Amino acid sequence: MSKGWGGRAPAGRIAYVDGRYVAHGSAGVHIEDRALQLGDGIYEVCGVVDGTLMDEEEHLDRLARSLGEIEMAMPMPRSALKLVMRELVRRNGVRDGLLYLQVTRGAVRRDHPIPKVSPRSTLILTVRAINTEELEARQREGVAVITRPDERWGRRDIKTVQLLPNLLAKTAARRAGAYEAWLVDGEGFVTEGSSTNAWIVDGEGRLTTRGLSHAILPGVTRRIILEAAAAAQLPVSEQRFSVAEAGAAREAFISSATGVVPVVAIDGKPVGEGVPGPLTRRVQELYALTSAQRAAKTAR
Ligand code: PDD
Repeated sequence: MSKGWGGRAPAGRIAYVDGRYVAHGSAGVHIEDRALQLGDGIYEVCGVVDGTLMDEEEHLDRLARSLGEIEMAMPMPRSALKLVMRELVRRNGVRDGLLYLQVTRGAVRRDHPIPKVSPRSTLILTVRAINTEELEARQREGVAVITRPDERWGRRDIKTVQLLPNLLAKTAARRAGAYEAWLVDGEGFVTEGSSTNAWIVDGEGRLTTRGLSHAILPGVTRRIILEAAAAAQLPVSEQRFSVAEAGAAREAFISSATGVVPVVAIDGKPVGEGVPGPLTRRVQELYALTSAQRAAKTAR
């Protein structure tokens, strides 16, 4: 089965699929799985720092919410799921990386309506190490973004596995030599990045990110930054901002499970001085501090 990876199955890695820890290279799901056939599934991505899962509770809260929005239940009790997540990190010996979790509606004869009798949902978990040198370089030096029309559906608050518009936008960014694409709604306002939340520091020095609605994913990192910034008495504003406002911003950055990354250029034009700004640096420090404190609590 490792053929499916073109011989690139990572040696020694362990996945969790449908109740079993299995060799990553030979793990599989049924061809009638509704995530494969119809995109009928929900996912989460959790950072792993020093062997500890970051913001585990918030990710599980969002998982339960996303599942509820598509009439699905959690695949197992939360306490059991947490045990599996931690055990998988341990079995893979990952210190710094990402845990991926997906719940699909399960395998059943292909038909569009939600089945009257629910099949058993499929639960998939994988863990992989990240290249910390590359991540740290991005966090230190910043990245470029381009803007693209937001072509996604109207319920972007649900963390569905249907990511075609996101991956097309990300591909366009990479082909343009940028790291991320900022998605723009029909009125010219930035919604978020293709896999990150988008932030600017506006002309008055306020940390600004779009307010929560169906238009964006409620980022866990976004929420922690907002809480930490408020506690540190930094001015914050949950307001949408336009592409023109982003172009005139003093600073900009993106946030996701892999942390806070400065944005130094938008559509080829420098943001501020074209280097990571002081408030972005402060947010990076605050986020690192807060998440380390939270992780220490979780590990106890
Ligand atoms: N992406 N917006 C979108 C569209 C996302 O896909 C993500 C996360 C975020 C940031 O959310 P959080 O802070 O909870 O990671 C915002 C994950 C990392 C991914 O798809 O790989």
